[in-house]
Amino acid sequence: MATTGSARLQGKNAIITGAAGGIGFETTYLFLREGASVLMLDISEKALQAAKAKLSELLPTHSGKLETQIVDVTSEKSVASAVEYLDAWGGLDVIFNNAGIMHAKDGDAVDTPEDIWDLTHNINVKGVWYGCRHAILSFKRNKRKTASVINTASVVALVGSATAQLAYTASKGAVLAMTRELAMVHARDGWRFNSLCPAPLNTPLLQDWLGDDVEKRRRREIQFPTGRFGEAVEIAQGVLFLASDESSFVLGHDFVIDGGMTKAYITAEGPPSAAPKNFAQ
Ligand SMILES: NC(=O)c1ccc[n+]([C@@H]2O[C@H](COP(=O)([O-])OP(=O)(O)OC[C@H]3O[C@@H](n4cnc5c(N)ncnc54)[C@H](O)[C@@H]3O)[C@@H](O)[C@H]2O)c1
Repeated sequence: MATTGSARLQGKNAIITGAAGGIGFETTYLFLREGASVLMLDISEKALQAAKAKLSELLPTHSGKLETQIVDVTSEKSVASAVEYLDAWGGLDVIFNNAGIMHAKDGDAVDTPEDIWDLTHNINVKGVWYGCRHAILSFKRNKRKTASVINTASVVALVGSATAQLAYTASKGAVLAMTRELAMVHARDGWRFNSLCPAPLNTPLLQDWLGDDVEKRRRREIQFPTGRFGEAVEIAQGVLFLASDESSFVLGHDFVIDGGMTKAYITAEGPPSAAPKNFAQ
């Protein structure tokens, strides 16, 4: 894959939350390659260090800055201070509110423990709200005429699953609704808000949870017209478009990247389609 871009984000300052994970890492790579300065936020110090080391191996030179901060998105104070930190860079242009969890104890309406419901909603919904709130304050402070906010939802916000993860599903529905409303409120400020709806992916969030349970895996794979899970880089390419000025007329959108999953009735048979390689491999 190319290590030089076309400067699609040249001069933009971006924050990515959950930046050390599957989608976050691939997005950081693409943002840097396209000329952005990136502040990577993640709760895991170890994962952030590994991600930064991998990025300097993959992209030894880039025109933008690259920094990391350990931030738990459920702490409004930490989110606020990370966003304010970018004032020294000239102010925030793009925030990708991407950190999220799907807890192993999440279940149906009866089984889901209340503390798991609260934890999931604190990270997946409140964390996104804090990111939006402080991004808006920053856009105001720095007098931005254009800016982009991308919030990670999921296809489970659009289609129902009989393998229930109720807290997760409800949290992603909240992200869709919140993002749509913010898009309407700020449309004439030039600040675009879009949701990202990835299908199940080949990242640790899902794959660790599926483990070697063949039946659990098969029940999901069969829903894909492509016969395979998505790759994180395929989602990151969509985020790049939403972050860039190329998507200047795209707002309030549920940006679905799902290999056709939400359009499918009966899926084809045969071997799966070819998948691209992630930058992280
Ligand atoms: N993987 C999938 O199948 C899939 C499908 C649809 C949507 N999503 C969503 O995409 C987003 C990213 O998922 P991924 O697949 O890259 O997962 P991942 O587990 O690889 O990465 C998530 C990252 O978020 C970080 N994180 C967790 N809690 C945090 C917190 N409180 N504060 C800051 N960082 C925190 C983790 O340390 C991790 O690095 C999530 O919102 C997830 O719900 C994933």
